[in-house]
Amino acid sequence: MVKEYIASNKDRFLEELFQWLRIPSVSADSRHKEDVRDAAEFLKKKFIESGVDTAQICETKGHPIVYAEKIVDPALPTVLVYGHYDVQPADPLNLWNSPPFEPIIKDEKIYARGSCDDKGQVFMHVKAFEALMKLNLLQCNIKFMVEGEEEIGSDNLDLFVKANKEKLKADVILISDTALISLNDPSVTTGLRGLSYMEVEVTGPNRDLHSGVYGGAVANPVNVLCNMIASLHDENGKVTIPGFYDKVAELTTSEREALNKAPFDLSAYKNEIGIKEIKGETGYTTLERTGARPTLDVNGIWGGYTGEGAKTVLPSKASAKISMRLVPNQVSSEVAELFTNHFNAIAPPYVTVKVQAHHGGEPAVTSIDSIAYKAASKAFEDVFGKAPIPTRDGGSIPIVALFKKELGLDTVLMGFGFDTDAIHSPNEHYGVKNFTLGIETIVAFYKHFSNA
Ligand code: BES
Ligand code: MN
Ligand code: MN
Repeated sequence: MVKEYIASNKDRFLEELFQWLRIPSVSADSRHKEDVRDAAEFLKKKFIESGVDTAQICETKGHPIVYAEKIVDPALPTVLVYGHYDVQPADPLNLWNSPPFEPIIKDEKIYARGSCDDKGQVFMHVKAFEALMKLNLLQCNIKFMVEGEEEIGSDNLDLFVKANKEKLKADVILISDTALISLNDPSVTTGLRGLSYMEVEVTGPNRDLHSGVYGGAVANPVNVLCNMIASLHDENGKVTIPGFYDKVAELTTSEREALNKAPFDLSAYKNEIGIKEIKGETGYTTLERTGARPTLDVNGIWGGYTGEGAKTVLPSKASAKISMRLVPNQVSSEVAELFTNHFNAIAPPYVTVKVQAHHGGEPAVTSIDSIAYKAASKAFEDVFGKAPIPTRDGGSIPIVALFKKELGLDTVLMGFGFDTDAIHSPNEHYGVKNFTLGIETIVAFYKHFSNA
């Protein structure tokens, strides 16, 4: 019945999703402020059309939050679905094979910014809800909270959650914003990393200098910054910031076994991203390195002359954006402080450094023993014919830890993307099959959750 409903409405579902994907809801770029709002309004309309009791645009200091609910019976359990309708900037535009906000289907995949992260995945929930309503299958309450600032750190969602605890009262959080191993090896994410995001600036001379006149006698801030960054890892790929690993929960033997049970094809992994060799912390597998170990990476670095041709200059300043991915039980603000102290301490006397902390977020692990996880597991069995493998993803959804802290709620991370979907990159895409199977799995989740 559900399968037929999805199959016979698939074209309309996709057409509606395409309309949404055409709205460039780039939260980071103030030129898209109105587009972000339009995307929120569009979603509100879709919630109303699919049969919610109420749908609202909730204002924040930044981009609005879309809230909707269907209360079948206050005595029944309630699922709170979270997602985000904002997207990453699309640039570099020239690397897209088709325009990022003109969705197309090619090889059974939807190509567009946000197709996977996270509009495509949020839309599965809207359509699963529509199916539940149309087929009269809904036996629990559902609340939806879809924000427009996930990609810029969810600062205002934080306040919204703290101020609306009663409104958000629920039994479990359900999120589709993570990845599956493959359609043959379904998985449910049970861990996410946290994040500390820093920006550093190194200043040498008080102005740009002629690199011939002064070069060799005055420290070059770009060279100095490169040295400082290089010193942040040792020869074993460990981060050298004192205290960085102090709170890291080492995996137990059985946790390691479980984590490494997930199928992983190293040569496919390397081929797909075009590298000859992998590189990481000595003593850990790739799945451990991305799922359960903390990291430090430069996200961007600039300084000096980067225009056309050659300009001989010894720049006055150099800067970098550096992020650290965190694992339990690291604390984002503490790691930001360790970084700040260390970066100041290693600054040589011939430069001055400025360190600034951007947004952060806490790591999270979710239970595989909860009623909701078991319902998700059964739903995957129904639709994929296999119980899902619990995995840990390397990405971050800081709100998961916040839900636990503020609302006392566990989350089930039922994502349907693939790691290879190029989220945040040019040519982001999302499988049509992932989309339709996702809808089916979500519907099955509600069935098992309500019957538990
Ligand atoms: N959906 C991603 C996070 C993600 C991706 C989790 C893949 C698991 C697998 C989310 O939209 C995201 O990009 N989060 C940011 C953090 C945020 C604070 C900007 C991230 O992980 O960089
Ligand atoms: Mn996302
Ligand atoms: Mn994202």
